[in-house]
Amino acid sequence: MTQRLVSHLRYAALAVPNFEQERDFFVRHWGLTEVESADGLSYLAAEGSDEPFILRLRKDDKRIDLAGFGVRNRADVDALAAKLHADHVQFVHEPQALTGYSGGYGFRVFDGDGRVLEFATGYQQRQARKIREREPIPAKLSHMVFNSANLNDTVRWYVDHLDFTISDSLITPTGEDMMHFMRCNPNHHSIAIARGPHHALHHLSFEMRGIEEWMRGSGKILRSGARMVWGPGRHNAGDNTFAYFLDPAGNTIEYTTELAMVDDDSWVANRHDISHLSTQDQWGTAAEMSELVARESFNDIDKGLFVAPPV
Ligand SMILES: [Fe+2]
Repeated sequence: MTQRLVSHLRYAALAVPNFEQERDFFVRHWGLTEVESADGLSYLAAEGSDEPFILRLRKDDKRIDLAGFGVRNRADVDALAAKLHADHVQFVHEPQALTGYSGGYGFRVFDGDGRVLEFATGYQQRQARKIREREPIPAKLSHMVFNSANLNDTVRWYVDHLDFTISDSLITPTGEDMMHFMRCNPNHHSIAIARGPHHALHHLSFEMRGIEEWMRGSGKILRSGARMVWGPGRHNAGDNTFAYFLDPAGNTIEYTTELAMVDDDSWVANRHDISHLSTQDQWGTAAEMSELVARESFNDIDKGLFVAPPV
């Protein structure tokens, strides 16, 4: 069993101009719990997760501020930092005591496209609770997906520097790569990279307790007035269910459940042709994936590339 230095995806941090509206949506409708707020900054937790927060919102021009990853201990943080230095990866800051909410010890770097990644350990955890039957709120953050204008270079970056592994890929009928699902632990994917016209957030996915809670959650979001971009359905790659919505800032966000767990040593990556109807919608309940639907998740050009967020 492979053990990587990066243990899991912890949180996404996003900057949005309509901060108050976005925060209100995630707390009142999406079902996250605000655990800390400061001037133009909000930390949101999922009740079913022991991560101190899974989403951080900040008031600014729209950008991805950070993708936060967990590392098991200080020795692994130092080992990962040493490896990334040896690989000539560009650092935002060295391993140090983190001063943001929940603290910890970690460092930040730029990925190949200029997104900022944080790797941390020793932060203060939160007491998770069991999500009740039929309770339509996220249990945890499932995965984060980036659009990249350099799909395969970006994927290579995560494989070479962070030891992620491709679990499955989506391809066009002519064999062109469209999307790669990548794992750092038995979860089928914690991140994915999609071919996009520019670098941006493709979507953020939140895991629900089960099908009943996922369905109830989806109805709750529809009733809030948010638009369902695509779904409900069950993907082939990852075998997870999907319902995609647009948040008030125009980011695509997903309720999902039942993401596949894979055995690291025996799993063989598949290349799924997106023109096969069952590839992306096993049940046949979602609208057919079209160029129009795909465009919804291109998102605005990320304004934060190779610029570290102020916090
Ligand atoms: Fe997803």
